[in-house]
Amino acid sequence: MKIDKSKEPAKLELRPGLEGVPVTQSSICDIDGIKGDLKYRGYSIAELAQKSSFLETTFLLIWGKLPTSKELREFEKEIQMHRRLSFRVRDMMKCFPESGHPMDALQSSAASLGLFYSRRATDNPKYIYDAVVRLIAKIPTMVAAFQLIRKGQDPIQPRDDLPYSANFLYMLTEKEPDPLEARVFDRCLILHAEHSLNASTFSARVTASTLTDPYAVIASAVGTLAGPLHGGANEDVIKMLEDIKSPDQAKNFLKAAIKNKQKIMGFGHREYKVKDPRATILQTFAEELFARFGKDEMYDIAKALEAEASPMLGPKGIFPNVDFYSGLVYRKLGIPKDLFTPIFAISRVAGWLAHWREQLSANRIFRPTQIYIGEGERTWKPLEDRSIN
Ligand code: SDX
Repeated sequence: MKIDKSKEPAKLELRPGLEGVPVTQSSICDIDGIKGDLKYRGYSIAELAQKSSFLETTFLLIWGKLPTSKELREFEKEIQMHRRLSFRVRDMMKCFPESGHPMDALQSSAASLGLFYSRRATDNPKYIYDAVVRLIAKIPTMVAAFQLIRKGQDPIQPRDDLPYSANFLYMLTEKEPDPLEARVFDRCLILHAEHSLNASTFSARVTASTLTDPYAVIASAVGTLAGPLHGGANEDVIKMLEDIKSPDQAKNFLKAAIKNKQKIMGFGHREYKVKDPRATILQTFAEELFARFGKDEMYDIAKALEAEASPMLGPKGIFPNVDFYSGLVYRKLGIPKDLFTPIFAISRVAGWLAHWREQLSANRIFRPTQIYIGEGERTWKPLEDRSIN
């Protein structure tokens, strides 16, 4: 829709963070923040997390329908065949400082794929399919590779006999996971795969709207997800729970944090004004693992914090979000906390690619406007005429 510039400019209303401003139309994901309901392409996440797989959900998000068994078999086979990284990428990762954050390693290695697949044909469905396969297949291998490299080891090759999630856990830990661990992990990936126009997905769409390559789109989104107000919160939640030390310290911690206007990590959401439905489902995953492999005392601290926060923050519509319990599941799977956000990224690549494809189907470059509040016109002064400060 072209705006008729000949008319008086519309009154500009500032909307910080674009809160409540629709900037695109999308058919990928629907969130009801009041009811606490989340659907991918019309399917509830509770049903998908129960019955689907991450790769089937990825296909659904990107192409808008559940795959036939032939389509799913082909998609899984293609991804299995593209899991390996070029030795050039692995060697590049060996030059990264081991003290670097795995999200920075992931952003750099994801962007590097653009060097190997430089042809851009964003109007070609085969190009789109191939880019989807490469990114869904290689991102987990990159996360696992940096984990081994920073420990001073060579990364291990994917195992073609293992399905997607089991193979990732194998590459990360060098041992084949228990089937329950692999299943719970796969369901976590389903839950984190898509969430409409969150900050990193918006980044992906803005980058996609310039028609750059999909590897740059994903690198933009990874960088955005890394922030502690977004995907980086899951790692900070664990650090917060470590600081609280015991359930009976939760109330004092909360009171002090609120008094100091400190944000409670893993709480609050721009869309949800009730508990994030994903947090509730993640609790059932954590409890399933605890029942089988033993409890994590930190879970009691988290539940005590949620109980104490309810009367203090609930009235403001601030409840646990997806990041509050996810780290407790990953901890039980033996995953280091600075890998929690890269795992979020492994999953969200599906959503970012779905939005990349959708943006291309009806593209208009994003270029919002601003309200200028800077200086009026001024003329340049030579150095000698400028005041000392
Ligand atoms: C994710 O958008 C998505 O969909 C994201 C995500 C996804 O799947 O992609 O769901 C994943 O990013 C989850 C969010 C993870 N981040 C955190 O847990 C960090 C802590 N949360 C906050 O930073 C905050 O709640 C946000 C960033 C999540 C939402 O911020 P908003 O909507 O901009 O809200 P705000 O910062 O303007 O806060 C509004 C009020 C303020 O109080 P007042 O100044 O009006 O008195 O609520 C308060 C805030 O202080 N508030 C909090 C709080 N979050 C908001 N107070 C204490 N603790 C918090 N966590």
